[in-house]
This record gives sequence, C-alpha cells and structure tokens, in this order.
Amino acid sequence: MGTTLCVANPKGGVGKTTTSVNLADGLAKSGKRTLLVDLDPHCSATQALGLVPPDRHPFMLLEAAGDFATPSKSDFFAFCPSSSSYREMDLLAQCSEDVLGVLSAQFESCAERFDYIVLDCPSSLGALQQAVLAHSREVLIPIECEYFAMEGLTEMIHLIRDVMNYKNRELDFGGILLTKYDESLESSGVVEAEIREFFGEVVFDTVIPKDAVTCEAFYSGNTILDYAPRSRIARAYVELSMEVIDREQ
Ligand SMILES: Nc1ncnc2c1ncn2[C@@H]1O[C@H](COP(=O)(O)OP(=O)(O)O)[C@@H](O)[C@H]1O
Ligand SMILES: [Mg+2]
Repeated sequence: MGTTLCVANPKGGVGKTTTSVNLADGLAKSGKRTLLVDLDPHCSATQALGLVPPDRHPFMLLEAAGDFATPSKSDFFAFCPSSSSYREMDLLAQCSEDVLGVLSAQFESCAERFDYIVLDCPSSLGALQQAVLAHSREVLIPIECEYFAMEGLTEMIHLIRDVMNYKNRELDFGGILLTKYDESLESSGVVEAEIREFFGEVVFDTVIPKDAVTCEAFYSGNTILDYAPRSRIARAYVELSMEVIDREQ
C-alpha cells in the first residue's frame, strides 16, 4: 500500500504547492512511483507543471482513475490536475455523501498503484480538507520562516487531532517543514529556533531556502528540480524527499 501524504496549512502562500510539486518530483526521481494530485481550485500545481486545467477534476470521474498524465520525463511521476470549473470544485469541496464515496474509491485505487500519493491542498480547513485528512496516512505542514508563522496552525492541529481521534487512527504527523528561509534576515533564524523548540523532532532537518528560482521555474512550467537542478533549493527538495523516505523506514 502506498503512503498518502497530504500537504496542508490553512495559511496561503507558505509553500504548500511548491513543496507538493518538488517533493513529488524528488520522490519520483528516487525511483518511487508517485502521484501528485492538485486539489486546489486555484490550480497552481497544474500551472506550475505547464498544464491547462481540464473542465472536470479527474478525481470526480471514477473511470479516469488509471489515466493520469506524466508531466515530466520520469515514468515514475504521474499527475492529476485540478479543475478550472468553480462548479466542479464547489462540488468537490462540499464533500456530499456521493463525492465522499468517489473520493474514497479514488484514494483506495491510487494507494494500490503508487508508492506515494502527494495531495496539494487548498488554503482552507473546510470539508474537502477534512475528507482528505480522513484518507491520508501523513500530513506534512509547511511553515514560512516569518513572524506570524503559527497563524492558523492551532486550528489545523485541532482538526488533525479530531480526525485522528474520530475518523482516521492511521493518520500521523508526517512533519513540519520550514520554508522560505532567508539567511540575510535575523527573523528567519528566530522563527526556526522557536518552531524547533515548540515542535521538536517532528520538524524536518531540511530547511527550504528562499530562492528566486522558485518563481522562474513556475513560469517555465517545470519543477525546480528540472529547471535548476544545481540550485540550493533543488538540493533542499531532494534532501527533503530522502528524509520523507527515511522516516517511513
Ligand atoms: N522557497 C521559496 N523561495 C521563494 N519563493 C517561494 C518559495 N516557496 C514558494 N515561493 C513563492 O511563494 C508563493 C506562494 O507559494 P505556494 O507554494 O504557491 O504557496 P501555497 O500553496 O501555500 O499558497 C509563490 O509565488 C511561490 O513562487
Ligand atoms: Mg497552493
């Protein structure tokens, strides 16, 4: 059974999509069969991979379950885009009984065919986020190294605990990831120290640096690992994928 890893934080702009895309690519490049699923109506992960969002979300079409695109040259990296239709994403976000049934079937069938399923979540704690947590094995929380980094985090942790207690006993903290670390700013170091003291071992050793290459890669429609493989941030994402794999064992 593959590991379903949800990348979540109700705060926007903290690096969820950047992390989902580049962690998925790093896992695939390490030889793990990886599926990245874009669950955000903003479709940022879909655009980051240079793809045009379809009208229907493939997760809503049960028959399309086996049919995901491979965005890079790697046979190990499959991708499920988000939908450009607000109606479609509204349906998904409302998570009615029907939609929950479809989601469960999709997660089950994907878990059989992939080693990792990485889920890029919207910046929200709504019904879709709850349903995704209920079907995940691990939740990875990116936190931006800046003041107010903990904003929204208490609610997120309460939600995770509720899901752990009442819906999904398998769910585990996959780890907290420090993102957008700026060496030139004293505040980055202060925030890192505070978060490590508060959360301890659950924080990944890998820290993702702030790097302008992120934006350039996005506009080129490539992952950072393909666009600038020698950059510091590409190396950091490779290191993160190693840490994720090591934590499993
Ligand atoms: N490590 C980084 N260095 C510089 N810019 C980054 C970094 N990570 C993300 N960004 C930029 O910050 C913005 C928000 O990142 P994104 O991954 O979309 O966050 P989220 O999915 O949490 O909203 C994007 O413009 C992205 O290019
Ligand atoms: Mg995003």
